[in-house]
Parts: sequence; C-alpha cells; structure tokens
Amino acid sequence: MDHKPTHDNTSKMIALTHQVSANNYHPLPVVISNGKGIWVTDIDNHKYLDCLAAYSAANQGHCHPKIISALIDQAQKLTISSRAFHNETMGPFLEKLCKYTGFDKALPMNTGAEAVETALKLARKWGYQNKDIPENQAEIIVCDGNFHGRTISIISFSSEKQYKDQFGPLTEGFKSIPYGCSESLSKAITPNTVGFLFEPIQGEGGVIVPPDGYLQDCLKICREKNVLMINDEIQTGFGRTGKTFCGDYEHTRGDILIMGKALGGGVYPVSAVCSSKDIMDVIKPGDHGSTFGGNPLGSAVGIASLEVLEDEQLPEKSYELGKHFKETLKNIKSEKIKEVRGKGLMIGIEIKQEFGNARKYCQILQEKGILCKETHQQVIRMTPPLVISKSDLDWVANQLEQALQEAS
Ligand SMILES: Cc1ncc(COP(=O)(O)O)c(C=O)c1O
Repeated sequence: MDHKPTHDNTSKMIALTHQVSANNYHPLPVVISNGKGIWVTDIDNHKYLDCLAAYSAANQGHCHPKIISALIDQAQKLTISSRAFHNETMGPFLEKLCKYTGFDKALPMNTGAEAVETALKLARKWGYQNKDIPENQAEIIVCDGNFHGRTISIISFSSEKQYKDQFGPLTEGFKSIPYGCSESLSKAITPNTVGFLFEPIQGEGGVIVPPDGYLQDCLKICREKNVLMINDEIQTGFGRTGKTFCGDYEHTRGDILIMGKALGGGVYPVSAVCSSKDIMDVIKPGDHGSTFGGNPLGSAVGIASLEVLEDEQLPEKSYELGKHFKETLKNIKSEKIKEVRGKGLMIGIEIKQEFGNARKYCQILQEKGILCKETHQQVIRMTPPLVISKSDLDWVANQLEQALQEAS
C-alpha cells in the first residue's frame, strides 16, 4: 500500500493548518482522522500503526471503549462544577489514584506542565515550613537534558537553548546537575535545597536510561539531607516502562509523584500530583488551583483509565512485550544503529550521525504505515500503545529493518 501523503485531502488540510495555526510544531505530513487501539487512519484513508501513542498519553490505545463510555456517561450527567463546590466524582477518582499510587493525598490538575508547577510550589512551601530557609531562597535541583513542560518556570531550568531563547526573564531557584550521577546530587545540595526533580528515564531528552541503582542512591541522599524526591512520571508512568511506575524498578516512587498523559487515557487532559499527607497539607485554600482540575468529566475518565490499566494488566504486558521488542530490535543487523535502549515499551533507537538524522527514518516508516517521531536529532522513539500484540511489534521491527536498508 502506498502511504505517501501526496493525496489531496492531506495536502489541503496541511496547507490550511499551516495558514491559521502557530508554527510551534514540526509534525510529519500526515493528517489523522480516526483511531482505534493501536491503529490510526488519515484523511486519505491510509492506515498506520501508531508507534508514538501521543507521547504516551494513549497507553490504553486510541478511543478505548471503556474510557469513551465513561466519558459519554459523565458528559450526559455533569461535566464541570468548578472547585467552588464539591462534586461526586473527584473524591472517588482521587481515592482510586491514591490507592493505585500508594500515597495519602492527590491534587488534580489538567496538563503535565501544570502538575510539574504544582509539585514545584508544593516542594517550595514544604521547604519553607520544614527547613530554615530564608525568604525566596529555596532551591530545587534538576537534571541536565530534562524535559518537564513549557511554562516559563519550567523552561527556566531547561538545558535546551531554544526553549529559553527570547522568553526571559526566567524564574530563579533552580540548579542543574548531570543526569544519572548521584554524586553530583550529593554535592549540589545546600541547606536551602528543598527538592530534587527528575525523570526516571528522560523521554524527550532521547530515551536516556540512568545507571542501575541511581534512583536508590538519590533516595538515600534525599533522605539524609531532608530533600524531597520529586518524581516526574508523566511520560514513564502507567505501564509505559514495564512497571506501574518506572521508579518501581528501584522500589521508589519518590516523595512527590507527578502524573499526566495516560491518566487521561488518551481521551482528556488529566494530571495530578500525589504525596504524603504531611507534604500535601502545606497547601491551604487559595494557595493553588485550576478551574478545570478535578472536574467530573476528567475524574470519570481518570477512574476508567486506571481501571483499564489494571484490568488489562498493561504494565505487565509492557514488561514482557518490551523485553521481546528490545531484543528483536537489538538483533537488527545495521551499521546505522548506534544503540537500542529503554525499558518496557519505551524504546529509543539511536542512529549514528553519519547516517543522517532520525526524522529521515521516521518519514520512511510513515510510508510503510508506521508513525513514530524523532526525539533529539538522532533518536527514533518507539512508544506504541501498550495494547499492542507481539506479532504487530515483530512487524514494526521488520519494517524498521527495511527502512534502515532503504535509506540512502
Ligand atoms: C516527563 C514529562 N514531564 C512533563 C511533560 C509536560 O506535559 P504536558 O505536555 O502535558 O504539559 C512531558 C511531556 O512530554 C513529559 O514528558
């Protein structure tokens, strides 16, 4: 089947979109109109296996019937109350989320970046109340190569020059250290440090996996120095890396757990921050909020999204399938591959620089009916919905092998 996006509808829609939308993304030239499970269809009726899963928002697969049904049922009843009043859905949602994560309390937001901002505020206020820190001197340590979102405060500690360029003045109070080096964490902590924010695998940074033992070492250091471990599992969470949360590989979910993406089942933006009661209770009425955070529609979707992860044992599936997929990819004999890395179904394939950048290979894969996206020039990221089958993964690996052979 020819997947070249040269057909009329696609070209017209891309031209229209280009004309009226901000040019803040560089998408592949495909216009998706339908999705079910691992498959999406474009407006010229080409079918693709979605190997990005909306940056891991669609771990449960596109338009999962149970999640859609929860959305429709709730939409017909009540969609929003605002937090000026209580609603009957948020409590049960957060109860389920707390049970699922093992924390006492949760604060619901909408997008990942908002949840990260929430965690930063929480850590700072906790720090001022629990450590002897002079006003406005709280520090948070982050990692080089991080990605936590796009707000002004979050880009303030990004290592990417473009993310910050001409967006200043930036927010103070962050210190960046090499990722994967616990010794650097130990050295960077001062009496004013309140938290250490990290991703257990850096996704946007190029699927960078830290050395084994890193999280446990960081936990020990944070405990010793009374610093909060702030675990951003927005991308790695909910089964993506083969465990419920990626931190589970080292038996820690941190002191503050940040979640987003698949918490909304690929259907609706739902994010949240979880922590112990002691930490969360520093937040008082008026300190923080969001008009849509904890709304009944998002809460109903959140419950259904968690249920699907549990009922279909998606983290366990991701673990088994991921092992098989990574092995298969590693067996591809191509001089163009520098490294295959990742955990579960979060896999990065790094292409050697002399063979061009990853986007070229993503474009060839698109022609072969597979959608994935480069991250950081050289890395093809493969993060399919976790409902994928072994044979479909074998097909993806086979197509990649062919794409590598065909690319000039
Ligand atoms: C680790 C991590 N944190 C935060 C975010 C930001 O989430 P959002 O795009 O929903 O604001 C992302 C998004 O890719 C992410 O991967």
